[in-house]
Amino acid sequence: MISENISLKPYNTFGIDVNAHFFSTFDSVEKLGQLLKDFQHVPLLVLGGGSNILMTKHFDGLVLRNEIKGIEVVSENENEVIVKSGAGEVWHEFVLFCIENGFAGVENLSLIPGSVGASPMQNIGAYGVEIKQVFEKLEAFEIETGTTHTFDNEACEFGYRESVFKRKLKGKFIITQVYFKLSKSSALNTTYGAIETELKSNGIENPTIKDVSDAVIAIRRSKLPDPKEIGNAGSFFKNPVIDESRFLEIRSKFPEAPSYPAGEGKVKMPAGWLIETAGWKGKTISKNEGNSEAKYGVHKNQALVLVNYGGATGTEIFDLSTNILKSISNKFGVELEREVNII
Ligand code: FAD
Ligand code: EPU
Repeated sequence: MISENISLKPYNTFGIDVNAHFFSTFDSVEKLGQLLKDFQHVPLLVLGGGSNILMTKHFDGLVLRNEIKGIEVVSENENEVIVKSGAGEVWHEFVLFCIENGFAGVENLSLIPGSVGASPMQNIGAYGVEIKQVFEKLEAFEIETGTTHTFDNEACEFGYRESVFKRKLKGKFIITQVYFKLSKSSALNTTYGAIETELKSNGIENPTIKDVSDAVIAIRRSKLPDPKEIGNAGSFFKNPVIDESRFLEIRSKFPEAPSYPAGEGKVKMPAGWLIETAGWKGKTISKNEGNSEAKYGVHKNQALVLVNYGGATGTEIFDLSTNILKSISNKFGVELEREVNII
């Protein structure tokens, strides 16, 4: 069924109230193909959970929400298993399926909001793991030709919060199925400091896959705002990779400045530290509109997360992000890049 002029507020975790001219869901490739035939030459936006987008205006086109479901084991041997998931599955439900079946590899990515289909878009990552480490292949529907293509790991050109689908193939394919290669022997990754600390504080010495997942969930809940309570899209910016020489200049003024190695002559800096040090953490902007007050700003526990306490427009949040970009450039000579997709 096609809805007309509906609010997208329930479909984006920032809770921005803009309209879609046309809106529909699809739960199969056939339905998707039919919709695209019916709406040729109409601007298109595909959504999963809407947890990595900022809507800045009404969408004068067709918004399609992916609801292709189904999780199944397609092959296995003694050590490994290939699991196929419909792109419209909720990512965390897929993680729970893997944990329940003893398949290791995605437990560090527990509780990331959104759909399985969007996970390769920005090569989701957290707590020392990115999906490219467990990604086998995906199937995607080419909008122009109506044909399905397969992309293996290399073809996806994964990088830090990047893939070919965010760059040269942007807007050309709709991901319909994703295949993951998971391990039956639990080769766990607990190298990320906070996971070890969390496991130790619970007295766990030989963690199971579920223990690692529980630790990640506890850490995430303590740091990140729940979009059901406060509108947000996770980290708004990427952590910048900069020249070591620039970092040494910053460290000469701020000896406590944190950094991580990022290849020859390069370091990655936590954008959260830059934004906090520039004085933005917890900053709240209020505006009165009619009888209601809208508030938005920078989260008080995580400076990398911009938040909508209710009533903000996408443009207001976008303008706030521009002010933060300028301020970090002026103060540190570092150019931040937005991670969230601006629409
Ligand atoms: P959407 O927001 O619906 O879409 C994102 C983009 O992908 C859009 O451009 C959309 O058009 C496109 N798209 C969506 N589905 C498809 C498809 N099937 N085919 C083609 N294009 C598609 N991300 C991390 O990497 N690590 C984290 O730790 C993390 N933590 C977060 C915490 C919070 C509280 C929040 C709100 C977000 C967090 N994110 C994190 C960001 C977000 O959860 C991920 O980017 C997630 O993969 C987005 O999925 P989605 O289905 O909501 O995508
Ligand atoms: N920091 C501050 N102040 C802050 C926030 C962070 O100083 O307000 C500094 C601290 O030095 C801290 C460091 O930043 O030690 C790292 O912070 P954190 O562990 O919270 O991680 P992050 O770098 O801010 C990244 C990802 C998250 C992911 C976590 C855990 C990016 C852009 N963000 O955040 O991903 O969950 O690591 O692995 O890489 C997302 O992409 O939406 C997302 C939430």
